[in-house]
Amino acid sequence: MNGTATTDQRAQRGPRGHFLVGSGPEFGRDQLGFYTACARDYGDLVPIRLGPRRALLVYHPDAIEEVLVARSRDFVKSPGVRLLLRRLVGNGLFLAEGEFWLRQRRLVQPAFHRQRIGGYGEVMTSYTARRLAGWKDGDVLDVHAEMMTLTQIIVAKTLFDADVTDESYSIAQTSNVLAAAFGARIRSVVQFIPDWVPTPTNLRAGRALRHLDQVVHRMVAARRRVGEDRGDLLSMLLQAQDADDGRRMSDEQVRDEVMTLFMAGHETTAVALSWTWYLLAAHPDVEAGLVEELRRVLGDRPPTVADLPNLKYADMIVSESMRLYPPAYALARQAVNTTEVAGHSLAPGMVVIMPAWVVHRDPRWFEDPEAFRPERWAGDRARRLPRFAYFPFGGGPRQCIGNAFATMEAVLLLCTIAQRFRLAMEPGQRVAPAPYITLRPEPGPRMRLARR
Ligand code: HEM
Repeated sequence: MNGTATTDQRAQRGPRGHFLVGSGPEFGRDQLGFYTACARDYGDLVPIRLGPRRALLVYHPDAIEEVLVARSRDFVKSPGVRLLLRRLVGNGLFLAEGEFWLRQRRLVQPAFHRQRIGGYGEVMTSYTARRLAGWKDGDVLDVHAEMMTLTQIIVAKTLFDADVTDESYSIAQTSNVLAAAFGARIRSVVQFIPDWVPTPTNLRAGRALRHLDQVVHRMVAARRRVGEDRGDLLSMLLQAQDADDGRRMSDEQVRDEVMTLFMAGHETTAVALSWTWYLLAAHPDVEAGLVEELRRVLGDRPPTVADLPNLKYADMIVSESMRLYPPAYALARQAVNTTEVAGHSLAPGMVVIMPAWVVHRDPRWFEDPEAFRPERWAGDRARRLPRFAYFPFGGGPRQCIGNAFATMEAVLLLCTIAQRFRLAMEPGQRVAPAPYITLRPEPGPRMRLARR
């Protein structure tokens, strides 16, 4: 990890005896290394300067709880996140604020109730089985691309009853273009180029966004044409749009919600699964434990939702993978009121960054934190941790709405695939965590399939 020496040189005494670290270039070069170095060198609360902005890095679980739960009303999503995502997800659930957010959250919530998502399990396993029918012993594939395709197809089918199988390749290409454009923007935090400037990256991103708009538009238009209530999320959104209560949802808002759920609902889970395959390939003992569990619990039959309580080791593997490689690697907020965090006062406008990447690897909470050890989640050990020592899905009112959906999907896909195939890393690859919007493995790991 680089960035440490310059970070030290630039440190000055900041407010309340804390250090103020001038940090734009280090952040841009190696965001994850920068977060790690700041925690190591300056502790749990680190005021930094990011270009023209000031921010506070917060690493202690209790302080994170203050931001996300106790004082959540004092914060909104950060300007960086708004700037990056506004054009993509508009004023959908992820970026909405205040009363409007609450209304939309209540509207969408029923699609994620436990009983409801139980019904999605069958779609998850059958679409996976269908995809696996095209996998051949000895094939080498980009496991991240493959997981993106699968999770895209699944979220579109479960929430919107739409089949995007034929479009999945072009959607995946589009996501890659956007990830690259967003990555460039995150890195250029100091010399930010607005997205209306026609740079090659911005032009490509513009085309990619238009393509995704078309995909979403087609899903909505197809349903409107049929006019039928399928009882799914898309029908719920369209009914709310048609409701004559004076608060109709505009076409634009329906588009924003569908885009939000489609995007938030696939890339994160795909990233979690990609890292899981990568880690399993490097830990044959864990993989053997998984295969043993699959034989014991399932024999040869495919997993169902009813099996989930018995697939404990698979669940622990997914938790441990998201500890080491949290898809949402750093959460951020902006203060809208004068407030405080762990006794550190914050003026309105101040940004708070909470890097799960570092907190999840803190030796105060996790013994031998760099090791991949699913056993650490056995029994009630998770409950003995401070609540925000592990927060892959965030927390408080803005906690991920797809939390249970994603966990179920990750475990079901892991089990369905591991039952039939072993995935081995092709030699000579250096895969690194790349902090885009999510923590993608880069390059996508190339893995060889061996049929079991
Ligand atoms: C492993 C998979 C996933 C991870 C790690 C993840 C992580 C997160 C996190 C950390 C947040 C909170 C962000 C913040 O506080 O700033 C969030 C919010 C959200 N997630 Fe997820 N997510 C996952 C899967 C899903 C799925 C499957 C869906 C939908 C199908 C989804 C939909 C959303 C939405 C709509 C929000 C915004 C909720 C709100 O603000 O009310 N996520 N996610």
